[in-house]
Amino acid sequence: MYIYKAAVIGAGTMGAGIAQVITFSGLPVILKDINQEAVDRGLKTIRKIYQNRVDKGKMTASEMDQKMALVSGAVDYSGFADVDIVIEAVFEDVSVKQKLFHDLEAVCPESTILASNTSSLPLSAIASSSERPEKVVGLHFFNPAPVMKLVEVIPGLGTSQETIDDVTLFSESLRKIPIRVEECAGFLVNRLLLPYLNESAIALEEGAATAKEMDDAVIAFGLPMGPFTLFDLVGIDVSLKVADILYEAYGPRAKSAEIITALVKAGRYGLKSGSGFYEYGEGNPGALDSIIDQVGKKKGAGRNPFSVDRLIMPMINEAVISLQEGVASAADIDVAMLAGTGFPQEKGGPLHYADQIGVDTVLSSLEKLKEEHGARFWPAPMLKRMVVGGYLGQKTGKGFFQY
Ligand code: CAA
Repeated sequence: MYIYKAAVIGAGTMGAGIAQVITFSGLPVILKDINQEAVDRGLKTIRKIYQNRVDKGKMTASEMDQKMALVSGAVDYSGFADVDIVIEAVFEDVSVKQKLFHDLEAVCPESTILASNTSSLPLSAIASSSERPEKVVGLHFFNPAPVMKLVEVIPGLGTSQETIDDVTLFSESLRKIPIRVEECAGFLVNRLLLPYLNESAIALEEGAATAKEMDDAVIAFGLPMGPFTLFDLVGIDVSLKVADILYEAYGPRAKSAEIITALVKAGRYGLKSGSGFYEYGEGNPGALDSIIDQVGKKKGAGRNPFSVDRLIMPMINEAVISLQEGVASAADIDVAMLAGTGFPQEKGGPLHYADQIGVDTVLSSLEKLKEEHGARFWPAPMLKRMVVGGYLGQKTGKGFFQY
């Protein structure tokens, strides 16, 4: 099915970013939210993204106007009678999304694809009250949507192959890299990011290093930004929501760091609220330290020295667990992390990196981290099988990949 017109519901950072990406590809899009103020804010976000391009000489002001003419704001469903795809990017609440999809079925043609940009809610649950589950699919963009190349395509239990094919082609037409991911909590990239982000927060609580020191160590490893800058970009409230969903699904190894809840309680959501792990604008220097003190003291801060392995190994371990579960292929896991998080190209993704440093090295690092910090570092069974079987990576010519 060719897509001639799209709609995005929810004009927040992600919704507006997705609408910008769609207009950039030349398609008209409706940007809907519940009130005009929210819609105007979304339109302003899109204009700002284009204005940046104009300021950098990457497009002319009249090209920007042409792109802006492709987006129309809406607070109701007039205009939805001929949309081919709706992408919802509203608050992460299953019942809100179920109701939304129900409303959409009443106003959209039967052929319309109903996509959700949910970052971790189960697609099958969102589709459960739908009369067209074959049309419901996950289409998960990454922040900032205009820049990050990855789109996770997540079928629910009732999604048809035709819908999967249509959204895959649609994502390619947006110049994104679609990767099919089997339905599971956190899908693929959030599932791999969360243990890494969470570990950085636990290390901060323990006083193992400062946020800046850990961010610098991660940048030295080759990622484009450190975990605390990423927390602030994504939103600490959003991260907590994802963390809770992962904990519910995966249990103790995904237990969220206390400081995340403390920051949300203090209204420090990250970039969007002016403070998070860092201060933006005037801010309140010292506030983070006192939150660390409150949370950290309970844990007996400062016992464990910091190494970047402490953050990267849980990411690799979760990649191996996801591979064991068949969430995606080894190659797709690596492409997803390169395109969705900027994992360093020269390291090739977490599984290629494991092959580079040696699967046995990954296993022994995890064993050591488990001794030092606890069972959340328990190595994936597949790692042990690979080591006893001689699949050690590049040095033996076989690992997650063949050499
Ligand atoms: N919106 C639009 N464009 C943006 C942008 C934004 N918010 N932020 C940066 N850009 C653009 C810049 O304009 C610039 O464009 P040009 O190349 O055309 O000049 C380009 O991106 C690079 O930006 P910068 O030079 O300012 O900075 P950078 O090189 O450090 O890149 C970054 C910034 C792209 C954000 C990079 O740091 C990065 O890739 N970070 C990792 C982000 C990440 O991991 N995202 C996934 C988060 S998880 C998630 O989103 C899932 C979820 O469900 C919560």
